[in-house]
Amino acid sequence: KAAPVITLDGPGGAGKGTISQIIAGKLGWHLLDSGALYRLTALGAERKGVAFDDEAALAEVARNLDIAFLPGAENEPVSVMLDGEEVSKAIRTEATGNNASIVAALTPVRDALLQRQRDFRQSPGVVGDGRDMGTVVFTDAPLKIYLTASADERARRRVKQLQEKGIDAKFQAILSEIQTRDERDMNRDVAPLKPADDAITLDTTDMSIPEVVAQIIDLAKARA
Ligand code: C5P
Repeated sequence: KAAPVITLDGPGGAGKGTISQIIAGKLGWHLLDSGALYRLTALGAERKGVAFDDEAALAEVARNLDIAFLPGAENEPVSVMLDGEEVSKAIRTEATGNNASIVAALTPVRDALLQRQRDFRQSPGVVGDGRDMGTVVFTDAPLKIYLTASADERARRRVKQLQEKGIDAKFQAILSEIQTRDERDMNRDVAPLKPADDAITLDTTDMSIPEVVAQIIDLAKARA
């Protein structure tokens, strides 16, 4: 029997990353940060000088990604490696996020990353964080969550998160980047961002992180 999956999809800044990490930690499950794969593809392409409209070359970059997710020290996020180099911070910039959403709109790139994502489904379970975890990658997941929040609130959270990482961020600029990226993610032809038919939508605008975590853990227990 396939290992259980909790999918967390939603727009940028809804808190998926933080919440997925906490839930995976609490359950002792694996974590798939699928956005990191698209960010790594974008960064890898940039570093190799591949044009962002060269589909075949971008898919080649995605297929051949030499990456590793190394566990961080206690309470530290994982270290993300690309070609043996630590890129945890480099992949988190807004520019790379934007480039990620450009390469993510290409079918050959998504196809190249599909199996790599499914390989994360291992015992005792996996928490999948992304845009199409419930609609494409793990369609049979027993628990699908769609996390959202108002654009203003998501921009506020993103600014705070970036500042904590020592990355300079301005609210208006982040808000408009978030809106551009959501628009692209929701309106693309392939794997558009939307709740799966069987997803539970949680609007986290007025919820704290512990509240969201508790609610998802309760749902997971009810379905175990
Ligand atoms: O979640 P994160 O901000 O890291 O994702 C970066 C971009 O990667 C998203 O804006 C989206 O275009 C793309 N993505 C995707 N499918 C996923 C995860 C991320 O298309 N499962």
